[in-house]
Amino acid sequence: SILKMEVEQINKGKYEHYMQKEIHEQPESLTTTMRGRLIRGGSCKAKTVLLGGLKDHLKTIRRSRRIVFVGCGTSYNAALAARSIVEELSGIPVTMEIASDLVDRQGPIYREDTAVFVSQSGETADTLLALEYALENGALCVGITNTVGSAIARHTHCGVHINAGCEIGVASTKAYTSQIVVMAMLALAIGADTLSNQARREAIIDGLFYLPRKVKEVLKLDKEMKDLAKLLIAEQSLLVFGRGYNYATALEGALKVKEVALMHSEGILAGEMKHGPLALVDENLPIVVIATRDSCFSKQQSVIQQLHARKGRLIVMCAEGDKASVSVGGSSRVIEVPHVVDCLQPVINVVPLQLLAYHLTVLRGYNVDQPRNLAKSVTTQ
Ligand code: G6P
Repeated sequence: SILKMEVEQINKGKYEHYMQKEIHEQPESLTTTMRGRLIRGGSCKAKTVLLGGLKDHLKTIRRSRRIVFVGCGTSYNAALAARSIVEELSGIPVTMEIASDLVDRQGPIYREDTAVFVSQSGETADTLLALEYALENGALCVGITNTVGSAIARHTHCGVHINAGCEIGVASTKAYTSQIVVMAMLALAIGADTLSNQARREAIIDGLFYLPRKVKEVLKLDKEMKDLAKLLIAEQSLLVFGRGYNYATALEGALKVKEVALMHSEGILAGEMKHGPLALVDENLPIVVIATRDSCFSKQQSVIQQLHARKGRLIVMCAEGDKASVSVGGSSRVIEVPHVVDCLQPVINVVPLQLLAYHLTVLRGYNVDQPRNLAKSVTTQ
């Protein structure tokens, strides 16, 4: 057992915990995820993506009436983060399914559907059952997993490996960001036959290319997030407001805090603020508001104003240089993150929240790699 402990320490390298190592590894894991898949061509060749495991099925996917994303936990959140770019570039409606709920409802799945199963482990019982159900109903089934040879990888018709490298911390971090990138590449691949969105696709491919560097930059917020964790250490609850591309970031940030720091946390769709959450706002409850630059920015500015008017205790995440446009009366705390193309911003924005959850957990004295009652791979229902 002493040997086991020593092996663990070697595996963790300079880090104290796997979760910490995996958060800081993201520039490398994202690079591995994209390796050989981004083609940035010469002057005459168009920029494009190549997903070997999908190329024989792209035509069928393009003809499908609907794309259904299916997953649990963090994998569901990753699919939600990619939903709108898949809709935009494919022109196909995308619906979201929590795996267990699809099975509970026996929701309609048709032959004309493409069902995409997202799972880090590839072994989650609920996702696997949903896959069996979709196969019975004749849908084209695509797997997005981090585990070669896993049940989901084997039982789907085709798929993409995330290639994020082995993830040990129970709370998923690097697999999440790699899943989003894989689904952005999926959107690019499906949309590649449409000329009208070529400039948009090329901008995203450039964004993917620079993404690992930007993640490296955002990781420099480690110390700042530790300081923030110190302020929040004794709180009962933390709300995270997001919308658009970053609704998923709000859900995922809250899930991290809940899972590892054992603190109640809720991701809230900012557009729903007035339909309930506003009642919770007072001068004590900390609220993170994600207000980076995209088409929802001015709406988020107005959310900040309204939360401030209710004396909300705000922590605003904005793009570098936007501090002045999101600050209200000097009372709010601001986290500035690097700006990237809108659909990839969730990859950047989740990192400070992962760091916050990590530091909160360590400061509160909980087990960060193996949170109470949770398992890395849930193979029972
Ligand atoms: C468990 C893990 C989560 C994970 C979820 C889905 O709940 O603790 O971190 O997000 O399962 O796992 P999967 O392997 O299917 O992505």
